[in-house]
Amino acid sequence: MTLRASHNVRSRARISISSTTSAVHSYNEWDPLEEVIVGSVDGAVVPPWDAITMATMPSHASWFFKKYGGQSFPQEMIEKAREELDGLALLFKQHGIVVRRPDNKMDFSKEYRTPWWSSKGMYSAMPRDVLMVIGDILIEAPMAWRTRYFESHAYHSLLREYFDQGAKWLVAPKSSMDVEFYDKNYNPDRPYIDGKKQFPITNKEIAFDAADFVRCGRDIFVQKSHVTNDLGIEWVRRHIGSDYRVHEVEFGDEHPMHIDTTIIPLAPGKILINPLWVKKLPDIFKSWDVLVAPPPAHPFDSALYFSSDWLSLNMLSIDEKRIVVEEQERPLIESLTKWGFEPLPIPFRNFYPFGGSVHCATLDVRRRGTLQSYF
Ligand code: NVA
Repeated sequence: MTLRASHNVRSRARISISSTTSAVHSYNEWDPLEEVIVGSVDGAVVPPWDAITMATMPSHASWFFKKYGGQSFPQEMIEKAREELDGLALLFKQHGIVVRRPDNKMDFSKEYRTPWWSSKGMYSAMPRDVLMVIGDILIEAPMAWRTRYFESHAYHSLLREYFDQGAKWLVAPKSSMDVEFYDKNYNPDRPYIDGKKQFPITNKEIAFDAADFVRCGRDIFVQKSHVTNDLGIEWVRRHIGSDYRVHEVEFGDEHPMHIDTTIIPLAPGKILINPLWVKKLPDIFKSWDVLVAPPPAHPFDSALYFSSDWLSLNMLSIDEKRIVVEEQERPLIESLTKWGFEPLPIPFRNFYPFGGSVHCATLDVRRRGTLQSYF
């Protein structure tokens, strides 16, 4: 339905109809999926070496970023990952789910400047990191990496369509990402000081990545991380309003960045946990079944802190039973089957080196269901 700006009562009624039938509508991780954005690796560029990459990459990988930072990912890697993304899109279509893709109009290799620094972009492979859907609200995350400063623009033609179809579109204030925004004393080899987790970003300005949040209806869980600070969490809490409760959680990942391999809600009352990092769940989950994930099938020697071999758990549910999972993750597939789920295995291993798996590569824009409390 088209929005028409006018001041008479009739057109106000049209606007209100349009917003209740928004094309964007998703409250949790498991309601039946109707529409999804699938990312793209086309034109992907290796993150340049700067204050934040330095702080968030393991030291054994620094040579890679120093050498290749700012250059395109090798074409062969891009092609293999593209094939897997297209396979994922096809699987969704076969299940009657509408698939949207970024329009690929951005040139990530082009250098850009702000008053404080210059950088190049990265990719539009991970809509999950940049965008969040809460009910009919689409939120553009401010991000914390310079290389991701303009990344949300890769989705702007889609966001504009969703806006025209009734979605609310919120853009969080971007930090300057100047030198003071990063903690110059942060040492990746000292993740805790006096028992307190350390982060490379300060609270000087608002920052969060959308993938540090996970939705269970009225209750939304978020972790502070290498890219999400207190102000970012408070910004989300205030802007989504009193229909929701935002709970801050902390687990054992020494270099947290994105919560979607740590706790994975699969259905009302069912949560999958990563046993390496989750020793205890917050009390709110006490009535839920806790499913303990088996170890990943293969070690994955990532050059990135933000993509461990627990990418095995980075899955997407298309409803309360069916879950898209990487086909080589056999122990996980067997466990899910034993627990009564129906895994949908697909090849996705060539996408891993870009820093994510199926959950990262997607954004569930619309699921059939209503806002509910599950606790
Ligand atoms: N940082 C987490 C999440 C990646 C999507 C991990 O490495 O498993």
